[in-house]
Amino acid sequence: MTAHASVLLPTYPDNWKRRHLLDLESLSAEEIVTILDTAESLYKAYTAAGQKLSLLNGRTIANLFYENSTRTRNSFSLAAKRLGADTVEFASSSSSVSKGETYIDTAKTIEAMGVDAVVTRHATPGTSHLLAQHLNCSVLNAGDGPHEHPTQGLLDILTIRQHRPNFKDLTVALVGDIAHSRTARSNIWGLKKLGAHVIVCGPATLVSRKWESLGVEVAHNLDKILHRCDVLNLLRIQFERQDTRPFPSVREYALLYAMNSERMKNSKPNILIMAPGPINRGVEITPEVADGPHSVILEQVTNGIAIRMAVLWLLLGQSKRTTPAIRQYEGVRT
Ligand code: CP
Repeated sequence: MTAHASVLLPTYPDNWKRRHLLDLESLSAEEIVTILDTAESLYKAYTAAGQKLSLLNGRTIANLFYENSTRTRNSFSLAAKRLGADTVEFASSSSSVSKGETYIDTAKTIEAMGVDAVVTRHATPGTSHLLAQHLNCSVLNAGDGPHEHPTQGLLDILTIRQHRPNFKDLTVALVGDIAHSRTARSNIWGLKKLGAHVIVCGPATLVSRKWESLGVEVAHNLDKILHRCDVLNLLRIQFERQDTRPFPSVREYALLYAMNSERMKNSKPNILIMAPGPINRGVEITPEVADGPHSVILEQVTNGIAIRMAVLWLLLGQSKRTTPAIRQYEGVRT
């Protein structure tokens, strides 16, 4: 730890080598634990300081979002500012995308303004990996279609660890629209690496047997698995990614899968109720459960800032500023 305006900051981990955060599939358990530990240390330091930390002073982070967001976008922005960085906010709807500019040209244009990291969300799987091949700066995946949402996975896992530190004894059920969920994939990769037992549960149209190949248990009847679950992560039905309805009606889905007071009575007494958000009250969760004593949904949101502070600092904290905009001006006479 080093001193910073009378607070202790974490020491930059010697073993951290990554420049991008694209998924949890490629991270080791050790790297995941480093991010979780860094998140807690940085958030404590920020809280103790009562002011912005200066760890990323002079750095700029661009949010390049092609899909809507409340939590991820705002928390990346706040995380960057709490580390002393500047931010650029890009929204495709009000940009030159409407004039035909491509995703990569848009990202390169933003990079040429001198940004150190691009945080990107896009409906197409693999887009953040593509950007990492075309840009010199760091790339962070804020959700690529149904593929991965690594910072969501990390903030979910941090929230679980704060309540249930021993992953090897845990059964975590991801309930709902597994087929279209990037949160499910990132949770599965991260939780399995830390040793948890993971169940994916939902209608057969949204949870196929192929998930077993990732080492998870597949279930279609929530009431039959509930008594074994330490954590339930309730995922939204992503109608926007579906051409046809995967079940006859929302009411029928809620009857079979919504977490409600009746199901709480049949759960473990200390069950944790989570949801990545946005939540649809009355569909995957009823208001009394969402707002009840077992719910950690708003803790997840707070942990989103801590995790995003950690990944921004780990990716940028020791790197040199080598963006094209910096290089262009290195040789200019004054
Ligand atoms: N959980 C999540 O990604 O929320 P947003 O879409 O609001 O960012």
